[in-house]
Amino acid sequence: MTTPLPSYERWGDLTGKRVLVRVDFNCPVADVDGVTTVTDDFRIRSSVPLFEELKAKGATVVAATHFGRPKGQVDERYSVAPIRVRLEQLCPGVELLENLRFNPGEEANDPAFGASLVEGFDYFINEAFGASHRAHASIMIPPTLIPSAAGPNLQKEVSTILGLLENPARPFVAIVGGAKIGDKLGIVRVLSEKADTVIVGGGMAFTFEATQGRTIGESLFNASYLEECASLLQGGKVLIPEDSRGLKAGVPFGPGGGPDEVVEFGANVPDGYEGFDIGPKAAAQFAEVIKGAATILWNGPMGVFEDPRLSRGTEIVARAVAASDGISVIGGGDSVAAIQSYGLEDQVSFVSTGGGASLELVELGDLPGLKALRESTK
Ligand code: 3PG
Ligand code: MG
Repeated sequence: MTTPLPSYERWGDLTGKRVLVRVDFNCPVADVDGVTTVTDDFRIRSSVPLFEELKAKGATVVAATHFGRPKGQVDERYSVAPIRVRLEQLCPGVELLENLRFNPGEEANDPAFGASLVEGFDYFINEAFGASHRAHASIMIPPTLIPSAAGPNLQKEVSTILGLLENPARPFVAIVGGAKIGDKLGIVRVLSEKADTVIVGGGMAFTFEATQGRTIGESLFNASYLEECASLLQGGKVLIPEDSRGLKAGVPFGPGGGPDEVVEFGANVPDGYEGFDIGPKAAAQFAEVIKGAATILWNGPMGVFEDPRLSRGTEIVARAVAASDGISVIGGGDSVAAIQSYGLEDQVSFVSTGGGASLELVELGDLPGLKALRESTK
C-alpha cells in the first residue's frame, strides 16, 4: 500500500454533525429460549470505543452493516433486530440501519443505492475491516461523495497485518489450515515467500500428503491442486503433518460429536477411513516449531475442532501459539472461534475481526474498501 488511509481525526469537533459508520456486525446468532440472540458480540464490542468517541465529539452516529446473505431481498431471518438489541446494551444511542443486503443495490455496488445511504450525512467512516474485501455499495460509494475516513479498528487491522508481512521478527512461522484448499493455496504461496516456515494442517493438508505417495483414504482431496501443492513443497518451507487422526468414512461427526472412536492413522490413512485432525507426532512437531517463532500468523484450524473428539491438534497448536512470547496474529473466523473456545484469546497479540478480508489482505496486499478510502478526494 502506498498512501496511508485518511483519518477522521482531521475533522475535529463534530457538534451537530451526522456520521455514518459502516461496520461489520455480521455476528453469529442462535435461538436462545425462542429469541434470536447474538452469540458472539466481538465485532460489536470492537466498535464501541469509536462510537463513544464520536458521540463525545458531539456527533449523531448511525451505523450500517450487512448480516448474512439475504440476496438482495427483505428476509426477516436476516433482520439486524438481534444485533440492535446487543448494540443498545453495549452502546446506547447509536442507530443501526436495517441489513444493507436487503437491497440488491448493495452487492451490485449500485451508485444510486450508495448515494441514498449518505443522504443527510456529513461524514463517512469505514470501520468494517471484515467487509472491505467486498466491492459493495456501502463500502465503495460513500468515499466518492462525502468526506470519508478509516475507523481505528480498520487502521489497526491493516497496519498490523501489513506491518507483520513487511518486516517480521524472525523466525516467522505461518500456520494455514481449514478445508477449502482452493481459497488457501494463494496465501500459502505468498507466505512461503515471506515466512521461514509455513505449517499446513486441516483438510487441505491431505492433497499435499497425496503428492508424497502417502495414502489418504477418503479424506478431503482435490486433484486439480496436486501440481501446485507439489511445487509448494519443493520450495522447502511448507511443513505438512507427518500423521493424522480420524474416523471410519461415513460415520457421524461435527459439533455434537458422535459415538465412534477416533483412529490414529500414522502417515497413511487406510481405505474406508477419513482424516479429520493432525496426528500426535505432527501436533508435537508443529508445537515445537511454533515455540521457536518470533512472529506467528495463524489462519485456519488443524481439523474439525468443533467435534471434541477431533479438536486435539487444533488445541495443541492454539496452546503453543498462546504460550509463545512472539508476536501472534490470528485471522479467520474458525481460528478465532478455536482460540476463543480454549479461552486463549487474551494470550495472543492480535485477533483480527476479518476472515476473508484478512486472507485477501495477506495475499494481495490491498482491499477494494481501502483503495476507495485512499482515492477519496472529499
Ligand atoms: C464475514 O463474516 O466474513 C464478513 O462479514 C463478510 O461476509 P460475506 O462473506 O458474506 O461477504
Ligand atoms: Mg502469547
